[in-house]
Amino acid sequence: MARAESVFALSNGHVGLRANLDEGEPHGLPGTYLNGVFELRPLPYGEGGYGYPESSQSVINVTNGKIIRLLVDDEPFDLRYGELRSHRRSLDFRDGLLRREAEWTSPAGRTVKVRSTRLVSLTQRAVAAVEYEVEAVDGPVRIVLQSELVANEQLPGGAGGDPRAAAVLEAPLIAEAHHALNSKAVLVHRTRFSGIRVAAGMDHIIEGPEGFESTVESHEDQGRVSVTTVLRPGERLKVVKFIAYGWSATRSLPAVRDQVEAALTAARYTGWDGLVAEQSSYLKDFWDSSDIEIDGDVELQQAVRFAIFHVLQAGARSEERAIPAKGLTGPGYDGHSFWDTETFVLPVLTYCLPGAVNQALRWRHTTLPLARERAGQLGLAGAVFPWRTIRGEECSGYWPAGTAAFHIGADIASAVVRYVRATGDVAFEKEYGLELLVETARMWRSLGHHDAEGQFRIEGVTGPDEYSAVADNNVFTNLMAQSNLRNAAEAATRHQPEAAALGVDTEEMAAWRDAAGAMFIPYDEKLGVHPQADGFTDHQFWDFEGTPPEKYPLLLHFPYFDLYRKQVVKQADLVLAMQLRGDAFTDEQKARNFAYYERLTVRDSSLSACTQAVIAAEVGQLDLAYDYTAEAAMMDLHDLGGNTRDGLHMASLAGACIALVAGFGGLRDHNGTLAFRPRLPSGLRRLTFSMQIRKCLLEVRITHAGTTYTLRRGEALPLTHEGEDLVVRAGTPVTRPIVKPPAQERCGQPPGREPARRQPHAGVAGGGKVGSAPDHLAAE
Ligand code: BGC
Repeated sequence: MARAESVFALSNGHVGLRANLDEGEPHGLPGTYLNGVFELRPLPYGEGGYGYPESSQSVINVTNGKIIRLLVDDEPFDLRYGELRSHRRSLDFRDGLLRREAEWTSPAGRTVKVRSTRLVSLTQRAVAAVEYEVEAVDGPVRIVLQSELVANEQLPGGAGGDPRAAAVLEAPLIAEAHHALNSKAVLVHRTRFSGIRVAAGMDHIIEGPEGFESTVESHEDQGRVSVTTVLRPGERLKVVKFIAYGWSATRSLPAVRDQVEAALTAARYTGWDGLVAEQSSYLKDFWDSSDIEIDGDVELQQAVRFAIFHVLQAGARSEERAIPAKGLTGPGYDGHSFWDTETFVLPVLTYCLPGAVNQALRWRHTTLPLARERAGQLGLAGAVFPWRTIRGEECSGYWPAGTAAFHIGADIASAVVRYVRATGDVAFEKEYGLELLVETARMWRSLGHHDAEGQFRIEGVTGPDEYSAVADNNVFTNLMAQSNLRNAAEAATRHQPEAAALGVDTEEMAAWRDAAGAMFIPYDEKLGVHPQADGFTDHQFWDFEGTPPEKYPLLLHFPYFDLYRKQVVKQADLVLAMQLRGDAFTDEQKARNFAYYERLTVRDSSLSACTQAVIAAEVGQLDLAYDYTAEAAMMDLHDLGGNTRDGLHMASLAGACIALVAGFGGLRDHNGTLAFRPRLPSGLRRLTFSMQIRKCLLEVRITHAGTTYTLRRGEALPLTHEGEDLVVRAGTPVTRPIVKPPAQERCGQPPGREPARRQPHAGVAGGGKVGSAPDHLAAE
């Protein structure tokens, strides 16, 4: 159940509802999340140290507005009792509606049909709504519907294993006010330690046979509207429930309460049909410019649309708040945001929903004061962004994989540069982007140093691969820092008055350029590969042969000290450097490095398969790239990590899109121009995607015969295809043949860690076996 609750979760990036059943029970994990609503909890250490964060932030399950309980004669509608004759839920990516249909016979033998449709509005960010209908199949039957708001819901098994955390998170809301009138109820609460005020409200439109009755009541942790009637066979009782949330750490109780009342008023004015129409028109526009079409593998096609839909849901209305690693689909990772956002999610949104990227980066900008403070605490200049956080403070209690992962600064800088290049949003660059670039460049300049030969070294850092820590000159980090330093100098040159206002002078810019120019990139001449960091290729190899499948993920079965001193890679690191800084490697180096790291990479993180797909495609291992693409896309539909119950893996879902567009499309955006090197694996017949770039909408259609670039919006767009400069003009599509990469022997992976070979599921619509979806999902 918990897995399906994540898969069918609805969100707009502001409000998130897990797909718990309307009647509240049974449930896997009840969840209603508001972006930025968290509780502080202590991070006690057995052995503390300077600069360790003292508290962490955990997303909390707020007031549940989804609940509509149903009493049939005198028995509660509960799937665990009586006979469930049919039950089906479906999520339609075109209209953003979660539909449910059930037919149930109560233990006493009364049969009803229940239909519900749920949405979280993409156009009215504080609003969710449910249309709920019960129909008597036989009868007459007495029906009571109870539509509720429930605060401090009991969570199954408490709030996790740690009793200290549970104490804070189990009943995190303190009641402040409640009221109810007619068909409406509002509850206001406050979190105990983080001091965030949360108001939740509901209002209803009820339709039923003449003479139905309704009452309303409110208590500290509960609001309830009850409706009762008697239904004869074929008669229906229908309730439209509007739900609204408002929250703030600063605004007064009346202000937050009134905000919710206002959102309910607007939703009621729009009406159910209006909300549905707005939703589908928003999504029509979105899909029109953002769909990725695949011909030849229907299961992958569905998975990729699932991925795009959830990435959209995570980012659409996050509006100056973070996009968490799980979006708002579950409590996994405590609701924290990581580099996942800037490195995986934002590159996708940049080309389909650029406004969301602007907002996400502005959120980072709002956290600059905290990041400067953190840098000061660590003895560094500029800004050090947290490895994991909700509001901006560092929440990682394990510094070798947290604070030492300084690359987060360059990841943010890289997202800024990509966004500005793709949109030409100079106002953003001046007001927000420049400062992010400057403060991160300052951090790199103070973290690294020039050695006796003048080379710039960055020592004691952790790269993306968390099976190595506190290493010197991690190639990914150094290359990303190099671009960060260069891009900061370039942006400061473009916007001199704004840069001067930040205290940047020509000397500082020269220092950044010098550091970038002298950046040390280790290379192992003997092996002809790049070590992931200094000395990595001299380390002992992990005993892959002697590691049975049940010992993965390794971090749960082996001590970090052993992982850290051996050649074993949790997730793409050097391989990611070859994607994001592909300009720093020759083709031959890419092929050799890829083969070398394939043997060592165990993919104990879901942030790996997509990157391996991209580089596999680049070096010509197209079938391997296809396998990895499918793995990234199926991460949650097939629950490959075994933890989809805690929420969806946003980076992997975004990564599936990256695997297709940057892998098979061969898109690189290292400099101002989009560069493509398209190619397809034998399993796919066609791949089509569109990208918004500046004022243009470019469509790229790839088949085995060739690639056609069509400008669907805009006048002219320069790009490169296999290194050839092209200008695509309105009304004149350009077609170029596919350049087949030289055939290569398939790289090997650690034994037992090979990706599943993709068997394309072409054209199996209508009764064919669709992939290997677990039965419970197929049944849903
Ligand atoms: C990965 C990190 C990632 C985090 C959140 C970890 O397992 O190693 O790279 O940021 O999960 O997704």
